[in-house]
Amino acid sequence: MADAKSVNLPLASKKRSSGPEEFDGGDDFYKNPKKPSFLPPSSSSWGDHDPAAALASARHEFGEHGGVNMSIEASATFTVMEPETMRRMFAGELGPDRDFFVYSRHFNPTVLNLGRQMAALEGTEAAYCTASGMSAISSVLLQLCSSGGHIVASRTLYGGTHALLTHFLSRACGITTTFVDIRDHDSVRDAIVQGRTKVLYFESMSNPTLTVANTPVLAGIAHEKGVTVVVDNTFAPMVLSPAKLGADVVVHSISKFISGGADIIAGAVCGPASLVNSMMDLHQGALMLLGPTMNAKVAFELSERIPHLGLRMKEHCRRALTFAQRLKGTGLKVVYPGLEDHPDHDLLASLSNKEYGFGGIMCVDMGTEEKANKFMHILQNQTQFGFMAVSLGYYETLMSCSGSSTSSEMNEEEQQLAGISPGLVRMSIGYVGTVEQRWGQLEKALSKLQEHGKN
Ligand SMILES: Cc1ncc(COP(=O)(O)O)c(C=O)c1O
Repeated sequence: MADAKSVNLPLASKKRSSGPEEFDGGDDFYKNPKKPSFLPPSSSSWGDHDPAAALASARHEFGEHGGVNMSIEASATFTVMEPETMRRMFAGELGPDRDFFVYSRHFNPTVLNLGRQMAALEGTEAAYCTASGMSAISSVLLQLCSSGGHIVASRTLYGGTHALLTHFLSRACGITTTFVDIRDHDSVRDAIVQGRTKVLYFESMSNPTLTVANTPVLAGIAHEKGVTVVVDNTFAPMVLSPAKLGADVVVHSISKFISGGADIIAGAVCGPASLVNSMMDLHQGALMLLGPTMNAKVAFELSERIPHLGLRMKEHCRRALTFAQRLKGTGLKVVYPGLEDHPDHDLLASLSNKEYGFGGIMCVDMGTEEKANKFMHILQNQTQFGFMAVSLGYYETLMSCSGSSTSSEMNEEEQQLAGISPGLVRMSIGYVGTVEQRWGQLEKALSKLQEHGKN
């Protein structure tokens, strides 16, 4: 236990007696004091990333009294012993890498710990956790693009992101987006305007169509033209590691699988330490100045859930595959990358981290919105298979008709181009109950639907 506590104490005591004499120089920070560096690169290696192994090797914080869980640093502001320390912190000379904290919109130790876990999960140098997935996405795009900038993005994206790119960024900052079919690599290449395009943006596995992006090829195209690749990995944590595959930045809605409880809204930006540092810059940092800060108590809650994310993902994925195969056997039109007839099946098998499967979401195309609604109504209210609700990654199954809900920001033509049919039911497969109990509920719902059809 004494060893365990010593992980934290030297850093804490360093702060209490801060002063120039404490630092022996010799590190890059002192060689280049004008360049603030708040976060040191972590030791994670991008090349051979295994999310489970990386999470197990990430620094474990212990509690103030030797608790196996870290203490929550619930302070908004932090004291210093000497006024000079404050000046140096604001000058960017002293930062959280040396346990100097100023104010929790900037950095908070508990939130920073979750950031370390997210960086380990995604195999990036650093990560910063935010109040929502949307704030992570909007902040990183605003950091990477200036007014008049250009983004090339997949046309199959979560509706909120699509609206951000289509309407908000163009109106508010003159940042425009060209949408492309992310499977058509020539069109991605053609859409990039060298010198003007700053970001290539796509989802590793798209919401809701479950298109899998060929990240290595797309990153190659973007990097040839000096474009930064930002990938939303919300649908496939543990399953895919986009940074290992060539992405520069990985964003998450932590509200989904990573949280797993459907009780928290949160997000993260995972990427190079230089990007996270730039986003925290006092004068130019999108996170620092827009302030989508995560609360320390929320960060603590989430930190406790990440250790079982891998186990949860395996079960979400195992059940999604089972139900997708069985539903397909009934003649329904099922979209799931784990099925061999899915156009991205082989691609996903070649890119994914082994043992996690093909994702916890599957879709059933019921043809019309009316039939989709009837099916979901029976599944929730008559056979208790799941809940009609947006979001995903919950332990219960959640179902929504994407065209009229989470993709409704897209107009009819945009939905058609994205491959979202009006009867598409997205199902985030839960893991409570037994598989056979749940399958019985699905089968019963299908026969009730057939009966309805006859009447
Ligand atoms: C793929 C994807 N990215 C981002 C978001 C936005 O995340 P949040 O709701 O946490 O802001 C969502 C939300 O549904 C999503 O599905």
